[in-house]
Amino acid sequence: MSLKVSAKIAEKVKNGEISTDDAARFSRFVDTCNRELMTHSVITDNKFCQWFAKGEADRDCIRHFITQFSVFSNLFLVAQTLKVINAGSLEGMRASKEILANELGVIFNNKGAATEDVTDTDRQGDPEIVSIEGTVDGGTFRFKAAHFEWLLKFGAVVGLSFKDMGKRRNGSPATIFFCDQLMTIYGHEDPSLAEGASFAVENWAAAGFWKQLIKGLEIFKEREEPGPPLAFFTWHDRIEDQHAGHVMDELEALYFDSDFDEEKFIAGGRDMLNGVEAFWVGLNEHRMAAAYISA
Ligand SMILES: [Fe+2]
Repeated sequence: MSLKVSAKIAEKVKNGEISTDDAARFSRFVDTCNRELMTHSVITDNKFCQWFAKGEADRDCIRHFITQFSVFSNLFLVAQTLKVINAGSLEGMRASKEILANELGVIFNNKGAATEDVTDTDRQGDPEIVSIEGTVDGGTFRFKAAHFEWLLKFGAVVGLSFKDMGKRRNGSPATIFFCDQLMTIYGHEDPSLAEGASFAVENWAAAGFWKQLIKGLEIFKEREEPGPPLAFFTWHDRIEDQHAGHVMDELEALYFDSDFDEEKFIAGGRDMLNGVEAFWVGLNEHRMAAAYISA
């Protein structure tokens, strides 16, 4: 996966918004991002996800995986709140609130989408049908639309209760390290560091790990009776496909801001990717230890 400078940069030069030197400097920075961030092993070689896609995870492994994911999902709310507070602009603050409010259960207001007409209140927060586009401004809040509640439903099918999920005490040291790095870097008050982390998280998320998880979970679901609902995962996969295209737009917008610091951006991105990787390595080590015990 490598990033390319979009045609918009050439257009900006043509319109006189930026100089050819600026465009060349940006192009060199995109090369640096490709070299320093996009080659990170959590993007190119995620061992846990590669294994998981084969569908060999048993019930215990799935239970551990869902527990750790629920801790990440819940503690992410703290990191996202810090990102709202530390936003460098009103526009940035609103973009962060879109994510935070949607996580908590505000359904994107997508006028004209067929799913807006759902009258069955029971289905109004259902991830099978809630929109992946639009804005939380004017959107409807439903408890059932909280991403954490979608995970709770999955957890219930594999024997996890509310108290087993989402709390710091439920997290492994690797998961807690990842969540703390999110709060520290993704939620940092220095916008260059925080944006580097944000950029890293988005590229990681767009690299296809949701698809690998869904593949493995579909195989697991076939073996289970009743099968767990996969909508938490399929919803996030759909939204990531849509996000991936925005990553370069955001970088282009940021780069030409006077406060932008290339080195801090790369450092924030690299440290964040190391945090993300710790989470997956923790899961991989757990599943290998479990396999050893049962062998
Ligand atoms: Fe989410």
